[in-house]
Amino acid sequence: MPTVKEILETMDYGPAPESASEVTAWLQARGRFGHFIDGSFTEAGETFVSENPATGEALAQITQGTTKDIEVAVKAARKAAPKWAGLSGHERAKYLYAIARHLQKRARFLAVLETLDNGKPIRESRDIDIPLAIRHFYHHAGWAELVAEEFPNHAPHGVCGQIIPWNFPLLMLAWKVAPALAAGNTVVLKPAEFTSLTALAFAEICAEIGLPNGVVNIVTGDGATGAALVDAEVDKIAFTGSTEVGRIIRRATAGTGKALTLELGGKSPFIVFPDADLDAAVEGVVDAIWFNQGQVCCAGSRILVSEAVAQEFTARLTARLGKLRVGDPLDKCTDMGAIVHPTQLARIRDLVAQGEAAGATLIQPETQLPAKGSFFAPGLLTGAEPANPASVEEIFGPVATLTTFRTPSEAVQLANTTRYGLSASIWSENVTLAMDIAAQVKAGVVWINCTNQFDAAAGFGGMRESGFGREGGREGMLAYLKVPEPKRKPETKATDFTARPSPETPSAAAIDRTPKLYIGGKQTRPDSGQSYTIAVKGRELGLAPLGSRKDIRNAVEAAHKASGWGKQTGHNRAQVLYYIAENLAVRAEEFAARLKEAGHDPKEAEATVRRAFHYAAWADKFDGAVKSTQSAKITVAMNEPWGVMGIACPDAAPLLGFASLVLPAIAMGNRVVAVPAQSMPLLATDLYQVFDTSDLPSGVVNIVSGPRDELAKTLAQHDDVAAMWYCGSAEGRAMVEAESAGNLKASWVMENRDWAAAQGREFLSRATQIKTIWVPYGE
Ligand code: NAI
Repeated sequence: MPTVKEILETMDYGPAPESASEVTAWLQARGRFGHFIDGSFTEAGETFVSENPATGEALAQITQGTTKDIEVAVKAARKAAPKWAGLSGHERAKYLYAIARHLQKRARFLAVLETLDNGKPIRESRDIDIPLAIRHFYHHAGWAELVAEEFPNHAPHGVCGQIIPWNFPLLMLAWKVAPALAAGNTVVLKPAEFTSLTALAFAEICAEIGLPNGVVNIVTGDGATGAALVDAEVDKIAFTGSTEVGRIIRRATAGTGKALTLELGGKSPFIVFPDADLDAAVEGVVDAIWFNQGQVCCAGSRILVSEAVAQEFTARLTARLGKLRVGDPLDKCTDMGAIVHPTQLARIRDLVAQGEAAGATLIQPETQLPAKGSFFAPGLLTGAEPANPASVEEIFGPVATLTTFRTPSEAVQLANTTRYGLSASIWSENVTLAMDIAAQVKAGVVWINCTNQFDAAAGFGGMRESGFGREGGREGMLAYLKVPEPKRKPETKATDFTARPSPETPSAAAIDRTPKLYIGGKQTRPDSGQSYTIAVKGRELGLAPLGSRKDIRNAVEAAHKASGWGKQTGHNRAQVLYYIAENLAVRAEEFAARLKEAGHDPKEAEATVRRAFHYAAWADKFDGAVKSTQSAKITVAMNEPWGVMGIACPDAAPLLGFASLVLPAIAMGNRVVAVPAQSMPLLATDLYQVFDTSDLPSGVVNIVSGPRDELAKTLAQHDDVAAMWYCGSAEGRAMVEAESAGNLKASWVMENRDWAAAQGREFLSRATQIKTIWVPYGE
């Protein structure tokens, strides 16, 4: 007599397809879709076909948006913006609630539509995509209600251009549209060309609930339509998609004054320690890489497993792999559906083949794939070296690499061997070890003993080439708000100067000293051996060292070595800053006299002392948060320093401007390479003794004077500089943003500011990036 277990093992699932009839009728009734602009649908223009990837059959005709279409949509959004921003938060909240409720009412319809258009299993669209999208609108209805009191002195950007990918079409729309509207922006959104349908259904909901015309506009089309949106008269671009396109958009928006957030690719580590619950970790892999056919930016695509358990873990994982059901996405028993499009299928095949050619072994069980449609059996690539294309490139398909490590430090090193930094998943029953590793991995989101957790209240977004900016929660709201700066005299293009060899001893009476650069805690001669004259109204005040690219590179290296600063406690950093403040206070009169001599307001000296006290006070108070997510997890948002920052300082306030930018950066644990005011660097060079006598570790602040834009360019291009602040001319701002595209460093450029008022949270949040850590709690 067979046991129950044996009976269960021989039983198969019967088909349990979700009905598509309602969606099919909806599609048939519409057939050809135009755009949704200014509250109504336009006539369809030149169209392309949107296919069901599981069958290859046509679902609908979608209009290819032209530059003109984008212009019209942006105009509608612009017209609607003042009124929408002028509504009370409560009024805006009512619309967001109405959207959430209507999405909820049509949840089943939207789940089926998403599955037909994208190929993802109905179980996922029904249980994950649509509920999370609904939750996003409910959560942000709350933010609309609270925005005025929770974000005083903030204003919406105006019109936001939003470009989204095809992997979570409605969910990505919700992540973009909900916070934008809550903050008081209007939007023009371009869905991905493979998956426009739920965005168009969403447009119908906007019309149904009576959302004011022009607040949400949807223009469909491909990358060319997206590029037109980037170039249009919008105030902000929010993009989710490939790193390659993110880089193009960074360059295209450089110098335009458009705000930008980028959510890009990933190659996220999934780290299994020997003491992990291996069965839970195996299920974790299923959710990490076989969820949504692996087409997930934060997919755990690099499994790193301790050598001690690698054999056992691989055996269990391979057994589980063989049990995954690939097939009809509409069938409720399907684990893995179709790949979004034949081009994506070809890309996955190509990258997997490249991985095998470079020495990896593909473990892929014999799976009966449907005869039609774009399907790829899930797999594992073992033995992939770190340089193997399969270990480096985002495959964006259901295949992870599996590599072993010996020690925790080797695990961290392997985890961080990537240009990306989106997420990481850590499996260990030892919470001390797991948190220690969480602190060391370069990732915007870390999941401990879990994976792919998302919630509207928690920030999501990457580090390094995974982009910048966060979506979700308070930090996500900040990305759709700005702190308006009153118009003031712009910083002029940095003036020319005369270089001359540094004299051993000063010759002219006016030249009372020849300062040097400050690198790694030492006063250093510039590599050029040259100085330049600092003159005010024709009177020479002194010579300043003429720094060059080489000096910047040395300074970055010195800053890197000072990594211990970021690990110090806020309390310890505060003590150093207090010390700096006190030492500055002692010399305030001397600084005031120097400022006066240089034709600047002597009051800057006293204000600089106050600024140092201000950031000493902040150093241990810019707290993170514990998020109220819908899960039995503690979701912690930690403010982490960027690492090495480049800062080019304003001419307008040579001492206070320097302090206003450098002090918040170091208060948060960054190390800085600063280019002081080009026209008057001597006030910054006067600070060396202050730093030296204040226990500031060497390399935390490095100062390289010279041609601001040239030096800022080297900083912006440097791959080991993680963030860049620049205050200066329009040309300089454009240059810094464009050059930052290389490693996609976050850049903050400003024209000029009211330096007397330039302090506080805005600077601290710009000096940090949020790492969100999820830890099971009370499960
Ligand atoms: P993509 O980055 O080209 O597409 C994303 C969105 O950007 C789409 O709406 C597209 O129409 C638009 N777009 C394309 N070129 C543009 C341009 N020059 N200016 C403005 N918008 C533009 O991604 P694609 O080609 O669909 O997929 C290629 C690879 O990108 C995937 O295999 C995957 O590795 C990665 N990817 C990553 C995503 C993520 O969430 N991290 C999402 C989608 C793709």
